[in-house]
Amino acid sequence: MYTDFLVIGSGIAGLTYALKIARHFPQRQVTVLTKTREDETNTKYAQGGVAVVNDLEHDSFERHIEDTLIAGDGLCNEEIVKIVVREGPERVNEIMAWGARFDRDALGEFSRGREGGHSRHRVLHHKDSTGREMERALLEAVHQQPNIQLLSHCFVVDLITQHHLGYLVTKSTPDITCFGVYVLNLHTQQIEKLLAPITLLATGGCGRVYRTTTNPPIATGDGVAMVYRAKGRIENMEFIQFHPTALYQPGKSSTFLISEAVRGEGAILRNHAGEAFMERYDARKELAPRDIVARAIDNEMKRTGTEFVYLDCTTIPEDRFRSHFPNIYKKCRELNIDVRHDWIPVAPAAHYSCGGIKTDAWGRTSIRRLYACGECASTGLHGANRLASNSLLEAMVFAHRCYLDSVELIQQPFQLPNVPDWDAAGTTAPKEMILITQSLKELQQVMSDYVGIVRSNTRLQRAMRRLDLLFEETEELYESTVLSPQLCELRNMITVAYLIVKCAMFRKESRGLHFNTDYPEKSNIIQNIVL
Ligand code: FAD
Ligand code: SIN
Repeated sequence: MYTDFLVIGSGIAGLTYALKIARHFPQRQVTVLTKTREDETNTKYAQGGVAVVNDLEHDSFERHIEDTLIAGDGLCNEEIVKIVVREGPERVNEIMAWGARFDRDALGEFSRGREGGHSRHRVLHHKDSTGREMERALLEAVHQQPNIQLLSHCFVVDLITQHHLGYLVTKSTPDITCFGVYVLNLHTQQIEKLLAPITLLATGGCGRVYRTTTNPPIATGDGVAMVYRAKGRIENMEFIQFHPTALYQPGKSSTFLISEAVRGEGAILRNHAGEAFMERYDARKELAPRDIVARAIDNEMKRTGTEFVYLDCTTIPEDRFRSHFPNIYKKCRELNIDVRHDWIPVAPAAHYSCGGIKTDAWGRTSIRRLYACGECASTGLHGANRLASNSLLEAMVFAHRCYLDSVELIQQPFQLPNVPDWDAAGTTAPKEMILITQSLKELQQVMSDYVGIVRSNTRLQRAMRRLDLLFEETEELYESTVLSPQLCELRNMITVAYLIVKCAMFRKESRGLHFNTDYPEKSNIIQNIVL
């Protein structure tokens, strides 16, 4: 099969790009692949909102830039920060023109929330389900665009490069080129090849590598793993952001988020003795950047031997809580938590991948004809710790930049080669799913126990040894069995876990989200770790 523009992922990054390119070239075909339902994305679960400066009377680009740089702890690319902050308002206007609604007050002014690390109220939101609203608007616009075909339940297995034509491809091969993908069509159970002169990866995050995460099951880091296998560049994977306040529900791997915007409204973190402990850790208390708040909670839990702390929302008037956070209110009610009197039990959970597929300022990866944007990409915006609500913004800004660059690239002469069909010879149907499910549990256990909020050299070495074994066993299975999404995801998550540990081992300092007890200080050497 052939398409002019191939997009992997139907979250905010993929759909924004698809819409723009399809409108620019109404005669050309855009194909969007997504591995489960079309709306099942991290985007749909975004709560707090989009950080953007669109009130120059009370805020400024300089302040948003500075807040982003401070949160990023010395590792942001300042040029990229400026681009995202300055181009952000135009992108937000665009998505509003496509139908996304943000809350306004009685005078019609935007209601702006505040979250950790922000010096101003600048987070536009749609109650506490901003992502759901943005995804809805984007999908509706995509369905009205006749030259976009959106194919759900299509699991992309690998990128096609010269490797599949029989050439030797190494990290130092200068012209690795992407010709499309092999995709497992879950309707037919066949692996098909889909060729395209331009491919965009928008595959989202990798929270499922950990035992508890705010991410839905699709977040298995497939794009990062595919690029690494194709010998493309990946950077700064050690910076996994743990959200400080996920609802504590023992035994649940997907946790419900209690938005940081709740702390922005005045909620207070308390330990089991009822003490508001944040003032002991940072002068900004509950609104310090996320790495600091998550580490403080982790420390309180370890110090007091408990598995959670509390979020006291009794400071927020009930009608205000109900109107701004209706879903959180409903969830708490279901669990018999009355936010007027009861404190919400919360604990940190894996939330966001700040590193990823290395790109330049136009979303170009190190592989030719392959773009990456959204959470799977590492653009340089987040540095060592993402500022809250900067990722929806980044996805929109970079989807636009990838689109602009693609418009140029598609006009350059290019001939797709003859690509062989997928070779499944010698593989047999999987006999025991338990081999996959058990390995996944082991992987998540290893990552949560040894590569969580606080790390050490010994823990990282242990994790690497366990990962080596899981890798070997899973590769054997991959070589011998008919592929399933579960097996491919396990393989991808092991690769992503390996990249997180490897980057963490190379970083001989503590910075932002990466804290190693063997190197508790920040180094003078500012370094991106590129694998
Ligand atoms: P996603 O929206 O995750 O989309 C990924 C897509 O890729 C999916 O369609 C998936 O099916 C597809 N895909 C993946 N692998 C494959 C494959 N192998 N084959 C085919 N398709 C594949 N950020 C903010 O800025 N503000 C917030 O308030 C906020 N709140 C959040 C709350 C929660 C609970 C979570 C989990 C995240 C939140 N974030 C927030 C982060 C933000 O939502 C994500 O970073 C962002 O939505 C990622 O968008 P994306 O388009 O890159 O990827
Ligand atoms: C939240 O609502 O707390 C999530 C915001 C984000 O991850 O940016």
